[in-house]
Amino acid sequence: MIGANPLDRRTAILGAAGLIGVAATAGLLTPAAPVPPIAPYGLRCHAARRGMSFGCEITSAQVAAGGAAMAAVVAEADMVVPSVEMKWGVTEQVEGRPDYSVAETVAAFAKAHGLRLRGHAGFWYLNLPNWARPELAGPGAEALILARVTDVVGHFKGRVFEWDVVNEAIEPRDNQAGALRLAPFGRPVGAGYIADCFHAAHDADPAAWLFYNDFGVEYDTELEDQRRAGVIGLLRELKRHRAPVHGLGLQSHIGVGRRFNAAKYRAFLAEVAALGLKIRITEFDVADNMAPADIASRDAAVANEARRFLDTAFDERAVEGLLCWGLSDRDSWLRQQHPVRVPADRYPERPLPLDDELRRKPLWQAIATAFDAAPSR
Ligand code: G3I
Repeated sequence: MIGANPLDRRTAILGAAGLIGVAATAGLLTPAAPVPPIAPYGLRCHAARRGMSFGCEITSAQVAAGGAAMAAVVAEADMVVPSVEMKWGVTEQVEGRPDYSVAETVAAFAKAHGLRLRGHAGFWYLNLPNWARPELAGPGAEALILARVTDVVGHFKGRVFEWDVVNEAIEPRDNQAGALRLAPFGRPVGAGYIADCFHAAHDADPAAWLFYNDFGVEYDTELEDQRRAGVIGLLRELKRHRAPVHGLGLQSHIGVGRRFNAAKYRAFLAEVAALGLKIRITEFDVADNMAPADIASRDAAVANEARRFLDTAFDERAVEGLLCWGLSDRDSWLRQQHPVRVPADRYPERPLPLDDELRRKPLWQAIATAFDAAPSR
């Protein structure tokens, strides 16, 4: 029987096409029309062949607009994550009256197309509801946050495959013990309290995989050394508190022209894996503001940067897959939020696998090739 998974169906159809070809060669059948090129053979197929996954961030506005951009998501991805739609500042604009209707549009799109849904994020220090800010500075902060985590995870119980339970709790520049971030409390968010968030999420949906997610741990700088140490330290603390943490999400907003030390990054991934944790690259994109101006050179530089990073990351079998933060350049947050990052950057960034017209770029090829080269999981 052909499975419900669209990839299984596609594999079966291609397999059948192959059989027809063999039969035609043997003179058993009238030759069929030529098999069309496998244009929809998306990144998710390259990933699946290695037991891995490819996904991307989408928005409710993109879902509403539909069209070719969403067809591309379905062709390329097996998993989606909403951009802002599950964040607290969107879901509970009025205190005590959570409203998940916007997030539901993304969940419905995922369900309709057989895509797994990531939850992002249970607790993040940004995109908070305005009403919550004063309370978060007071003694009731932790109870309030635990209630939020319980509510959002419980609302999507059985529908979200994997949650970023807590996002970005490490900030070495805040100079706190354990490199913990001060915001939004004005005092460090303790590891014990972060552990409680994981317990709350697990109670709300015992079947969901629960991740801690963070950024800025990819490159060879003193600050990123400190972040890597902070993240490992936090994960160890969570384990010590017997928190049900299953994985580490690495945002991986990388960029051309930065100092990457493959051995150091590889050792970091091995250290995480040795804690018994899964790893997922959760928000991948490649900033090109330090790359040459002409598009062919920029795209090549972006693809090269991606390859050296992904080859190192995928070498670690605990890395289960990759999500890009958007699929097409036209939807990148880098364009929306940083249209001009440095004086040299007078061009719209091209940080994602598809261009503005949804054509596959050298970065698409780099990701496909990195999956192809990865050891099987
Ligand atoms: O939808 C409103 C629109 O109606 C309004 O006119 C406009 C005016 O500013 O704002 C729009 O909302 C914006 C929303 O993105 C949708 O575009 C918010 O202001 C803006 O703050 C929000 O930014 C998002 C940001 O997280 C904060 O939630 C970005 O799209 C999203 O890409 C970004 O994602 C984060 C991850 O969650 C964590 N890692 C970093 C990553 C990039 O910053």
